Amino acid sequence: MFLELTGQTAIVTGGATGIGEAICRRLAAAGATIVVADINLPGAEDIAQSIGGGSFAEYVDITSSASVHHCVEDIVRRRGQIDILVNNAGIAGKAAPIEQQTDEDFARVMAVNVHGVFYFCRAVIPHMKSRKYGRIVNIASIAGKEGNPNMIAYSASKAAVLGLTKSLGKEVATEGICVNAVTPAVVRTRILDQLTPAQVEYMTEKIPMRRTGQPEEIAAIVHFLASRDCSFVTAQAYDASGGRATY
Ligand SMILES: NC(=O)c1ccc[n+]([C@@H]2O[C@H](COP(=O)([O-])OP(=O)(O)OC[C@H]3O[C@@H](n4cnc5c(N)ncnc54)[C@H](O)[C@@H]3O)[C@@H](O)[C@H]2O)c1
Repeated sequence: MFLELTGQTAIVTGGATGIGEAICRRLAAAGATIVVADINLPGAEDIAQSIGGGSFAEYVDITSSASVHHCVEDIVRRRGQIDILVNNAGIAGKAAPIEQQTDEDFARVMAVNVHGVFYFCRAVIPHMKSRKYGRIVNIASIAGKEGNPNMIAYSASKAAVLGLTKSLGKEVATEGICVNAVTPAVVRTRILDQLTPAQVEYMTEKIPMRRTGQPEEIAAIVHFLASRDCSFVTAQAYDASGGRATY
C-alpha cells in the first residue's frame, strides 16, 4: 500500500487534541502503532483508546528534558523501536505588542516550542541511528517564515524549529533518518483560544484560499513525510498554508 506504516511505532507529541489528534488518526489508519504523548494524559488516553490497535498514551511535559527522556525510555521498553517522531505539541503564547510581553511569556513559548523539540529529537536519534531508520516531522508554522505581528515569541520559536530541522536533517542525512518540517497557516483548533479574534482574522485574511485549514489537511502532508516513501527529502519545510507562503 502507498504510504504504508504497518509495524511501525510513531510518537506524536501533543496528540491529545487538534492537529496532533488528526495526525494520530491518519498514521494509525496507515497501520502505525501510535504513542499519544501529551501533558494532558486523560485526553491522550481517550485518543489512544479510540484509535485502538495497540496504540497507547504517555504523559510527557516536553519542557522538561527528564520527562522527555523518561517517556522515550518507556516507549523503547514497551515497543522496542521508534520509527516516527512527530514534534507537534506547541503553544501560541500571548498575542500582544512586544512591550507587553514579559520575560516569562517569552521563555514559556520557547520552552515548549523550541526546547521541547530539541529534547525529543535528542532522545530519539540514538535509537533511530542504531536501526539506521527514522522519520522526524516537526510542526513549525508560517509565522516562523513570515513573522506575525504581536506574536514575537511564537514567530521566533517557529523560525528556530525550521533552523533545527535543517541542521539536524543534514547532520543525520547518511543515517537513514529524514527530518522535515511542516509550516501550516491558521488551522481551526483550540490553540486559537490563546489569541484575540482580531489576531485570528489578520492571519486568515492573508490566506489566498480565504479559509482556515483543517487538521486533516496538515495530517496528510505529515503522513508522506513520516513514511518510507519520503526517502530523498530531508531538511525541508513544507507549507500547508492555502497559498500564504511566498517562499
Ligand atoms: N492551529 C493553528 O492555527 C496552527 C498553525 C500553525 C502551526 N500550528 C502548530 O501546530 C501544533 C499543534 O497545534 P494545535 O493547533 O493542534 O494546538 P492545540 O492547542 O489544539 O494542541 C496542542 C497540544 O499540545 C499539548 N501540549 C502543550 N504543551 C505541552 C507540553 N509542555 N508537553 C506536552 N504536550 C503539550 C496540549 O496538551 C495539546 O494537546 C503546534 O505546534 C502549533 O504551533 C498550529
